[in-house]
Amino acid sequence: MNLSLEHLINQKLIAIFSLLNLDTKFAAVKVSDRPDLSDFQCNGALALAKIERKNPREIANLIAQELQKDEDFAKISIDGPGFINISLSDKFLAHNIDKMAEDKNFGCAKVENPSRVVMDFGGPNVAKALHVGHLRSAVVGESIRRIETFVGNTVISDVHFGDWGTPMGMILSEIIRQDGDLSKVDTYDIKQISAFYKQANIRCKEDESAKEQARLITTKIQDKEPEFYKAWEHLRKVSVDDVKKNYNELDAHFDLWLGESDAHESCKEIVMIAQEKGISEVDDGATIIRLDETKSQRPPVILVKSDGGFGYQLTDIATIKMRYDDLKADEIIYVVDKRQSLHFEQVFEVAEKLNIAPNVKFLHIGFGTVNGADGKPFKTRDGGVMNLEDLIKLSKDKVRESLPLPNEVEGYGEKEIEKMVTQIAMAAIKFQDLKNNIASGYIFELDDFAKFEGKTGPYIQYAIARINSIIRKAQANNIKEGNVIISNQEEKDLALKISQISNVIMRAHTEHEPSIISDYAYSLAQAFSTFYNVSSIMNAESEELASSRLKISRLVRDILVQLLYLLGIESPEVMLKKQNA
Ligand code: ARG
Repeated sequence: MNLSLEHLINQKLIAIFSLLNLDTKFAAVKVSDRPDLSDFQCNGALALAKIERKNPREIANLIAQELQKDEDFAKISIDGPGFINISLSDKFLAHNIDKMAEDKNFGCAKVENPSRVVMDFGGPNVAKALHVGHLRSAVVGESIRRIETFVGNTVISDVHFGDWGTPMGMILSEIIRQDGDLSKVDTYDIKQISAFYKQANIRCKEDESAKEQARLITTKIQDKEPEFYKAWEHLRKVSVDDVKKNYNELDAHFDLWLGESDAHESCKEIVMIAQEKGISEVDDGATIIRLDETKSQRPPVILVKSDGGFGYQLTDIATIKMRYDDLKADEIIYVVDKRQSLHFEQVFEVAEKLNIAPNVKFLHIGFGTVNGADGKPFKTRDGGVMNLEDLIKLSKDKVRESLPLPNEVEGYGEKEIEKMVTQIAMAAIKFQDLKNNIASGYIFELDDFAKFEGKTGPYIQYAIARINSIIRKAQANNIKEGNVIISNQEEKDLALKISQISNVIMRAHTEHEPSIISDYAYSLAQAFSTFYNVSSIMNAESEELASSRLKISRLVRDILVQLLYLLGIESPEVMLKKQNA
């Protein structure tokens, strides 16, 4: 089913174009540039006239004559050199809203050829707490995961844990330096492990021999020497358990918890394939692949470093092979900081050169940074990196200020209030992120982002809760949903807005841009508010109108809930607000 109005009108135009022997590829329609003149327009006559060397108005006239025969249109006119203006009849529009209200997907289109999409986002690292830089990958990645699933693709999300590089050797060698051996590793929790990592970092920067030692131990881990490998397994497990808590709180879902370590065997294969195909060469002890320099000047890809270690690039190339062989990916989408663009450009080009994943589509969705008020990457007051946990806590504290205290409202004890605080704080954080274009960075707003007014997540949640209460009241007065009737301009505007959902989600999918959805959710909530100001349910002029408005309200509520879901945001049934907040 596809109840997009553009689609439905396009179908009608295609039939007319065929009848008139005109090329149907010019039968496209779009929302009118002049909503005061018409709802939709078709500009095809202009392009056709050029090809057929005819007068565009004449062609437009022929098409318009046919359109006029269709009762679904209230008004057809020709404007300027040959634009065809199309306005829908209220009946047709109302009927379409009825159909949307009956469909659990609101008549939204699906992709024609569903594909298997592997999504790589999250990208946490062993022994490092998630910080604000990880926020966007989780928030944007999860939203795109949900959008891709909604349009009909099969999505497999993989966190791609950073668990295999020199940091692993650094941590273990620091532990050995302090403890004498690895016998106590099993007892260390995430805080202790992170502390070792920080100390190792400082030491390796200053001391070449410490660095050397760390490299040596990294190879021991990678060669799976039992003592080292076992210790590493503990580091990994503790880290995974820790970040899982964070991702759960963010409601980011990963089907797979694979890491760089899982690509180790495949890395060896890649090196062999590259050698066999004569694509790699040895340069200063390292095995490298040079990229096509006619495209642009890029540094070569280092497969194996001169010390024999496998690097970040090789791991990603090897992981592509696994995603093709084992997961049968048609497409791989990476949601990673845009500062890694060159890395992915190199990785994709090598994967193509080696032909390890034929016909797979690669996409790096690079996001900009989350910044502080100074426009630089967000920091804590003392200049350190802001942990994700602290950022979430900060947001919750802010939201708590606008809610009643536990037990101030009947039925809302500590547990219920805290649940609401979490739902609103997450909405505030995520919406603030997803209302921006992915590629641009944004300033994390600490004052307005959690407000119930303006373009915020809590505003949309509040709009939903308000409709919930409208619906409860109507039901308590025995009003039932009935056929949609368009009785005034605000109803018509809202109906046209509602009808855009299919196109909006499709566009968010093709452009990989959740901000298209957040923009729409905001304008739909506003259109509802305008509608409801003039179209009361309880004081409707007739029972039929009350029933129609109840159905429209319910539909808008369901759509808003769906849109927030696609942004990774929950919709509480009820929203409380502190008196005079
Ligand atoms: N762990 C990496 C980092 O912190 C991000 C991983 C992104 N994904 C990937 N397949 N390279 O930079």
